[in-house]
Amino acid sequence: MITRREALSFGTSGLLLSLMPTLGKSEEGHVRQYRLEASPAQHRFYEKAKASDLWLYNAQSPGPLISAQQGEVLDVLFVNNLSEPTTLHWHGIRNLNEMDGVPGLTQDAVEPGESFRYRFPLKDAGTFWYHAHNKAWSQVARGLYGPLIVSESAHANTSRDIVVLVDDWRLDEDDQIHTTSLGSLHDWSHGGRLGNFLTVNGHAEPVIDRPEQGPVRLRLISAANARIMTFETNDQRPMQVIAVDGAPCAPFEVTQVTLAPAQRVDVLIKEADALDALFEVSTADPLRAATFAPKPLGGSDDLTFGFKGSWYPQPDAKQARQIDIHMQGGAMGNLTSAKFDGVERSLREIATQEGKLWAFNGEIGSYDLNLAEVSLGEIIKLTVWNDTRWRHAMHLHGQHFWVTSTEFGTEPRALLRDTYLMQAGERAEFLFLADNPGEWLFHCHMLEHHAAGMGGVISVS
Ligand code: C2O
Ligand code: CU
Repeated sequence: MITRREALSFGTSGLLLSLMPTLGKSEEGHVRQYRLEASPAQHRFYEKAKASDLWLYNAQSPGPLISAQQGEVLDVLFVNNLSEPTTLHWHGIRNLNEMDGVPGLTQDAVEPGESFRYRFPLKDAGTFWYHAHNKAWSQVARGLYGPLIVSESAHANTSRDIVVLVDDWRLDEDDQIHTTSLGSLHDWSHGGRLGNFLTVNGHAEPVIDRPEQGPVRLRLISAANARIMTFETNDQRPMQVIAVDGAPCAPFEVTQVTLAPAQRVDVLIKEADALDALFEVSTADPLRAATFAPKPLGGSDDLTFGFKGSWYPQPDAKQARQIDIHMQGGAMGNLTSAKFDGVERSLREIATQEGKLWAFNGEIGSYDLNLAEVSLGEIIKLTVWNDTRWRHAMHLHGQHFWVTSTEFGTEPRALLRDTYLMQAGERAEFLFLADNPGEWLFHCHMLEHHAAGMGGVISVS
């Protein structure tokens, strides 16, 4: 009999699938321990920069790289040394509900000076991230996030595997967080709080080591509050998309990758010696995001990128229960009134008095807005209609969903995602098997939109 560990490193997808679902199996895996402490800390975004006062995990921007292996248990002792309550959310992880980090829904917020132990099995390998989930529009904007990489095998995380975590900060002339615009109703009702300063892995235009030749994987992650960014390499060289939102996909070629807030895309670059720079090209002024410099390989060189199949198959849409979600509100929208706390009021009044202006199905969202009660094992099709004038990065906690779209070109493509960018006016279908019990948040990851009402709960029991 082969052991679980050996079975995983052979990576046969059928075997993996049969091993994954139960918690009991995962508990047999190794426990990977970390300690994360949230506190005010200073950080320099570039060499001659002034020290910026941020809120960080372990005084680092981004927070420390948490890396673990599929099948292990992640055990994080979290300490809150901020002056306000906070939580940690493990974005994209098919988590245990009580470890999902949504204050007031899955746990009480961790008060200043208190700690909380997050402990959960890592069922899937992929590119994830963690971030604060209390007043995220402020806490994430101040720096409370970091990368979480779960590898398929013990051989991963070598110098062929590069994390590229991007963020869009709003800084003032002194390189400090522009705090007076936090909470701006104008931003909340429009495209969210856009920054003016781009970083990769916590630095402006960093130089990142890459191997001299051979393949390299870039794990692109966006921690931006609201900005949608697009990246390309020097000379618009082709890149192969091999995973989105952590989930492996049949590889396809692109020359640009668009990342909405919270999205991840893993790209394979076949020949590292052609990779000199990464540019952000969503505005009229392309920005150099990072420069790559060759460095002799250190560590293991044993990374294989072959597609071994999806995490789980696309369920049969014909058997799905349909749940309609009509997204409304925001500036220049057609929503004139909505239900807030059960009372119908004009949107103008709710906006000025309560700071809320987005709705699902005519109701301003909150952790109390139940979008659907779903039975464990049901196939669900969320039919989502973005009936607003803005784009939204819709995120479902606790499970990925299948969505077929033309986001990567003209041919419709079905991808497993946890965050999908909806264009203004777009209708989309999110298909998933509800096999993870608990209260799961569904919200816009433009963090100002979520704070202003674009969120609700799908309960699975
Ligand atoms: Cu990145 Cu509600 O999450
Ligand atoms: Cu939004």
